Amino acid sequence: MKISNYDEHNYDYSTYWDNRKYEQEAEDYAVSRLMNKLPKNMKFKRVVDLGGSFGRNIKHFKGNTSEQVIVDYSLKTLQKNHSFLIKQYPDIKLIAANVYKLPFKDNSFDLSLMVRVLHHLDQPGVYFKELARINATGGFHIQEFSNKFHIKAVLRNLIHFNKSFFRNTKYQQPTAGNHEGSQSSENVTFLNFPVRLVKRFFKQHRFKLLSSRDASFFRIPFLKRYIPSQILIFTEKVVQEVFRLIPIAPSRFMILRNDGFNKNVLNNEEFESILVCPVCKSELKFTKNLATCTNKDCKNKFKKDKNVWDFRV
Ligand SMILES: C[S@@+](CC[C@H](N)C(=O)[O-])C[C@H]1O[C@@H](n2cnc3c(N)ncnc32)[C@H](O)[C@@H]1O
Ligand SMILES: [Zn+2]
Repeated sequence: MKISNYDEHNYDYSTYWDNRKYEQEAEDYAVSRLMNKLPKNMKFKRVVDLGGSFGRNIKHFKGNTSEQVIVDYSLKTLQKNHSFLIKQYPDIKLIAANVYKLPFKDNSFDLSLMVRVLHHLDQPGVYFKELARINATGGFHIQEFSNKFHIKAVLRNLIHFNKSFFRNTKYQQPTAGNHEGSQSSENVTFLNFPVRLVKRFFKQHRFKLLSSRDASFFRIPFLKRYIPSQILIFTEKVVQEVFRLIPIAPSRFMILRNDGFNKNVLNNEEFESILVCPVCKSELKFTKNLATCTNKDCKNKFKKDKNVWDFRV
């Protein structure tokens, strides 16, 4: 299990979004259209943005959730952005943790989101199991992932008669240019997933697919250089609607409902009462900025530093 640790190289992911107005708006449009599938006027108890980084997507949950949680492996990113985020979202909680081992009780959330993170997960099955555990029955989830069979990749591999590419397996993308979380391109985990494989994971955990759509049809440097972003964004919105059922773009978004066997979302008022030891899932004992696992065989300790709990394991 390899973690893409952005802190190792002090990678500030927010800089990636400088001059990416088109991609930002394409994704915002996709998420907001999928959120229209949620029950009208529903107010959610608690949402978690998994691998949420500096909070780029948390705006989608202003007004429709009582409490927002950002989980990310990058402790530095969360600490750096806390003061900015808390001003806009007074109930927000920032938790440094690994999505493979989440420090939450079962059924802690009735809404969750993951965008641009699945490509870093070389053991997606472990993540999907954790997601199904923390997301309550009747809860909703929005998942973005890099689509292995986007049109450019399909054409490229057809031309090269690369039969093995068309298997229903995840695919490590050649990482030239994608230096996320590392300084060289060598060790970056950058996985693309077939839509069928992602659907299978969700089915295994009894998530029902409500709707899906592609985004970023025009993620092509040449187009972005010569066509004004407003025109690209307008065209993107039209194309997103037309190709809703055909996954040909590099990025696919899905919204799902958890029809699993868990129970209703936890109604605890105190945020800390939903936290558990990420290793053994036992209760924690809190003393100021320290949380100690109450399991005698575990006894792991976790610290809160600069307003962020550090549950990374
Ligand atoms: C490309 S960024 C996307 C951030 C955010 N979701 C967005 O769309 O703006 C990927 C994020 O995933 C986080 N990440 C990678 N692996 C993780 C893991 N195993 N557990 C938690 N976060 C992880 C990284 O720290 C990084 O902030
Ligand atoms: Zn423990």
